[in-house]
Amino acid sequence: MKCQVIRVAEFGGPEKLVEMEYDVPSPSAGNVLVKVEATGVNPVETYIRKGNYAKLPELPYTPGTEGAGTVAEIGEGVKGLKVGDRVFLTDTLSGHGTYGQYCLSPSSEVHRLPDNSSFEIGASIGIAYRTAWRALFLKSKMKKGELVLVHGASGGVGMASLQLGKDFGARMVGTAGSPEGMEFIKSLGAEKAFNHTNREYITELNEFAPNGFGLILTMRAHSNLGKDTVLVANGGKIVIVGAQGSSTINPRRLMSKEASIQGLMTWNFTEAETKQFVDFISEKLKAER
Ligand SMILES: NC(=O)c1ccc[n+]([C@@H]2O[C@H](COP(=O)([O-])OP(=O)(O)OC[C@H]3O[C@@H](n4cnc5c(N)ncnc54)[C@H](OP(=O)(O)O)[C@@H]3O)[C@@H](O)[C@H]2O)c1
Repeated sequence: MKCQVIRVAEFGGPEKLVEMEYDVPSPSAGNVLVKVEATGVNPVETYIRKGNYAKLPELPYTPGTEGAGTVAEIGEGVKGLKVGDRVFLTDTLSGHGTYGQYCLSPSSEVHRLPDNSSFEIGASIGIAYRTAWRALFLKSKMKKGELVLVHGASGGVGMASLQLGKDFGARMVGTAGSPEGMEFIKSLGAEKAFNHTNREYITELNEFAPNGFGLILTMRAHSNLGKDTVLVANGGKIVIVGAQGSSTINPRRLMSKEASIQGLMTWNFTEAETKQFVDFISEKLKAER
């Protein structure tokens, strides 16, 4: 059987994404063939497409790390899933991603989608919400009532962080690069929004939180890590979610505040952590109306 996919035969710009007809693959042992209904689009797909990422697939490949759909076929030994199940994916098998009508995933990355959740919602969970959860709950011990800054809150991971932090009971503050972005993050529950294109915004953040932020999630550490060391509270933590290059900081700021910097990478999720996250997010989705 044939299907339509987007394939990349050589690394480069968006013009390297080529739509073509392709044989629907068969799942080998432990893997699942999913009929894709919705696909998540994330910055990482562009880094990979350009050949500018630490882990690269063999060429040619079909992009797409996250998505949602229905189980079309299961490989030998797969337990707990059956053909027709509505599912969301936290990863795909290298080369056979969700930028196509069918994709392959290891069964450990295929999870039942609650009946009340759309495929579009399911397709947004694998990267943005999983990364936000790892940053807020696994790599930091966010406290209720704590002042949390999401430095770059209007994008995928930022909006997920605001929602999960607010739902948990933290005081969420975010930055965006436009008035529309600021309105958007306020609509998601940010107590206050700041504009990171405004030259004075670090001063404004300092005035808003004179004792600093207990936790900072930073999406552009290459340009903001130094500013984050100014904004972090005594004993606080900065979690680096995104960085596209190096950055110079004054380590004395961290010394005097006994503050710390924590890196994060979603490919470090263990199966047990993924299960913990899936249980958490499934409960939240089931409670949605
Ligand atoms: N470590 C991991 O495992 C992991 C996982 C997921 C994502 N990431 C990385 O994390 C970053 C964010 O991902 P995403 O999916 O949220 O990307 P996205 O949807 O493209 O959002 C990018 C965010 O960065 C903001 N931004 C732009 N210029 C900024 C500046 N000067 N200072 C602060 N923020 C600025 C944008 O705000 P405006 O557009 O409003 O200006 C937007 O909120 C990306 O680099 C991504 O590759 C890493």
